[in-house]
Amino acid sequence: MKLNKIMLVAGARPNFVKIAPIIKAFSESPAANKARLLLVHTGQHYDYKLSQVFFDDLAIPRPDLYLGVGSGSHTTQIAKVMLELEKVLVREKPDLLMVVGDVNSTVASALTAYKLQIPVAHVEAGLRSFDRTMPEEANRILTDQMSEFLFTPSRDAFDNLLREGIAGKKIFNVGNVMIDTLKSNLPKAIDRPILKKLGLDNEGKPGCYVLVTLHRPSNVDDAKVLGGIFRALRAISRELSLLYPVHPRSWANIVKFGFHDYFENVKSTSNIRQFSNCTRPGLYAIDPLGYLDFLKVQLHAAAVLTDSGGVQEETTFLGVPCLTLRENTERPITVDLGTNKVIGMNEEKIMQAWNEIKDNKNGNMKERHAGARRAGCKISKWDGKAAERIVRILFR
Ligand code: UD1
Ligand code: UDP
Repeated sequence: MKLNKIMLVAGARPNFVKIAPIIKAFSESPAANKARLLLVHTGQHYDYKLSQVFFDDLAIPRPDLYLGVGSGSHTTQIAKVMLELEKVLVREKPDLLMVVGDVNSTVASALTAYKLQIPVAHVEAGLRSFDRTMPEEANRILTDQMSEFLFTPSRDAFDNLLREGIAGKKIFNVGNVMIDTLKSNLPKAIDRPILKKLGLDNEGKPGCYVLVTLHRPSNVDDAKVLGGIFRALRAISRELSLLYPVHPRSWANIVKFGFHDYFENVKSTSNIRQFSNCTRPGLYAIDPLGYLDFLKVQLHAAAVLTDSGGVQEETTFLGVPCLTLRENTERPITVDLGTNKVIGMNEEKIMQAWNEIKDNKNGNMKERHAGARRAGCKISKWDGKAAERIVRILFR
């Protein structure tokens, strides 16, 4: 297949982290940089803190095309991406459409290209939670079924695809592009003054705060589940500070269910703080952080409580203890070879898991950096070269 024009689509926060190394690898490959790479932003995420800040932090070039689809029900969002992208694909006629991850923009773009018989490449193929109630699981399965090139981050993902009947010759275990981004940006992140701004600068030692992120509908859209999580967070926050950069989906529900009172620093429900002084133990809400600031606060955290897919991988690489507030994970390698424990969302289970890890939360940054390097080597091909492998395979 001759690749003269490739279209790369991204739409939501984790997508931006994944496309950055792919764009860089294209521009650095003498074979690939003769081809035209067109970047399309669907507009699924549009707030500065969920979108543009990643372009700024990761030096991602301005998208060639912006579809402006915005928020809506799953059907609305997918339909809007398809309608807008179809026009672009018909006009531009790329030789290949590349999609990353598992968000609505991913499956919508893959289906649009598939219908026009444009081959699809899926980066981060093969991940499965085996939980059909999770919106991303349908996106993953369908995108993989429509793809001609399936780039997996780990061997378990490769095996999942073989089990689903996908031909082995289409699957390439290239490693993890999120780790490419992490490795190349860690030095810049380490220099960020974010911990000083938050009053959490414990003289470079980890262990004075816990980092929290939550945005999965199964956690934040259900008042009973979110209530149990918040009671556990409040109990932990009596011992030390909990820093929670709040995703907009979660903030809307926190206010709706009345959990904003749990925060130490929230006086008005209309908006949250960009920064806050979090020195005194308590639960602190701040706006979502940009990539570099968030990487720094992950690196220095005593532990991370999360339901994010990407954060399970990043904490594993960094050697930071991670408790995943979900019933399952599509990234089992982070449990087998990393620092991740999948503990569910129940208040008692969260407290039990916290009590088991809290005595090990201290350490020093030297050990943590060494740990990060070890973890990176432990998982095959989480070495910062995944995007290079993708480009080599496409242009060989
Ligand atoms: C989406 C992805 C999820 C991914 C997450 C990363 C799907 C099905 N879900 O979830 O897999 O883990 O992104 O963060 O694709 N909103 C804003 N500003 C924005 C974007 C959204 O305020 O810039 C609010 C809107 O009220 C919107 C809600 O957040 O309705 C949810 O946004 P949406 O993109 O539909 O899903 P996420 O929960 O962000
Ligand atoms: N992230 C960030 N700021 C935040 C929260 C997350 O930069 O306030 C980054 C995180 O480091 C990772 C990515 O966003 O690279 C993960 O995205 P998210 O958790 O939204 O989605 P998921 O990975 O669950 O699909």
